[in-house]
Amino acid sequence: MTVLFEITEDCLETGLRGYPCGYCTTSEVDPNKGLSYVGIPIADLAFKMPEEVIYLLYYGESASKEKLAKFKDDLQKRAHCTQKFLTALKNLPKEGDPMKLLCMALLLLGQLEKSGDYQEDALRLIAKIPEVVANVINHHASWLGRPSKPELGYIENFTQMLGFENKLSDRQHLNDVFRVFNVLHYDHDGGNLSTFVSKAVASGLDDLYGSMCAGMAALSGPRHGRANLDALEFLQNLHKHLADNPKPGEIEKIVLQKLEAKELIFGFGHAILRVEDPRATILYDMAKNFYLNHPLVRIALQLREEGTKALKSQPKISNPYPNVDAISGALLTAAGFPYPQYYTVLFGLARVVGIAIQIIYERCYARGGKGLPIVRPTYIYKERRSL
Ligand code: MLT
Repeated sequence: MTVLFEITEDCLETGLRGYPCGYCTTSEVDPNKGLSYVGIPIADLAFKMPEEVIYLLYYGESASKEKLAKFKDDLQKRAHCTQKFLTALKNLPKEGDPMKLLCMALLLLGQLEKSGDYQEDALRLIAKIPEVVANVINHHASWLGRPSKPELGYIENFTQMLGFENKLSDRQHLNDVFRVFNVLHYDHDGGNLSTFVSKAVASGLDDLYGSMCAGMAALSGPRHGRANLDALEFLQNLHKHLADNPKPGEIEKIVLQKLEAKELIFGFGHAILRVEDPRATILYDMAKNFYLNHPLVRIALQLREEGTKALKSQPKISNPYPNVDAISGALLTAAGFPYPQYYTVLFGLARVVGIAIQIIYERCYARGGKGLPIVRPTYIYKERRSL
């Protein structure tokens, strides 16, 4: 037997950092290379059509033309939610965090539309999630949405369903950014919090929708999916203080002051990565190529250089590089979707894909088809000194 990981007392209360828990058949996060889907670097997949990348994750191989056409058809046939679900969703309270509305919508969908078979439910949920999320956003924002037209394509349909005001030509650019953002966020190995939590809940044999709801609650925290919102707020504050074109070194100085005050630098570092997140590199390139005139994009690019420099000067920091959250919010804003309250929901729209496929593996294929047992780690009893 190979020893994979040595557990010492130091490993306790570290958020299971580095513990190998099982196998992930969809994606891998290499500390020095970053994300790959089924062995293919994310940079080679970022601009492909979502259906093609979902097929790759779902079946573990690239699709032939015929197989892709059939898969698109499978998704389109399942894409519509029932009127009963849509009406029930519109009756949910719209106050508060839209991620909680997404959680409620997933539970509702399970109550009204589940088949009870993990594989069929995973395909159903992947097919329906653009319609679910567009309706969650439209309801929360009180936007009059447009009817779903799955034949337009997975993300094209999502973009056109959103009821906010903007010109059709601008919507095409936004659709390109939504598409890339979507593909980049499908999966990030098996141990990211939302995926791990969903799989743990599914290990107790709850259905796919309840398991996904738990994962989306995990995603809504500021240390996970909400991080791109905090990173955007940081950029907006820098813009407020330094205006459109900060002088060289000004941002570095602010980052150093924040570090001195032991404040977090949002959008930098990662639990696994030790280089710039390749998802960030892809989005930085898009921002540079298409939205360089936007002040937040310029500040994000300056922060990429100067923030990294400041963080590198701190010997205790193991990863001074930006992750995907450092630029995604600025890019979505510049591309014509200035509604940060929905950025985590957009992350959820994507992550549902990877989680659903990982649940299929753990429930239906792992251990020769028996599936994995219920998650049940051990905690070591410790006497409480004070409350
Ligand atoms: C993710 O995409 O889930 C985040 O980068 C967080 C993680 O991998 O832990």
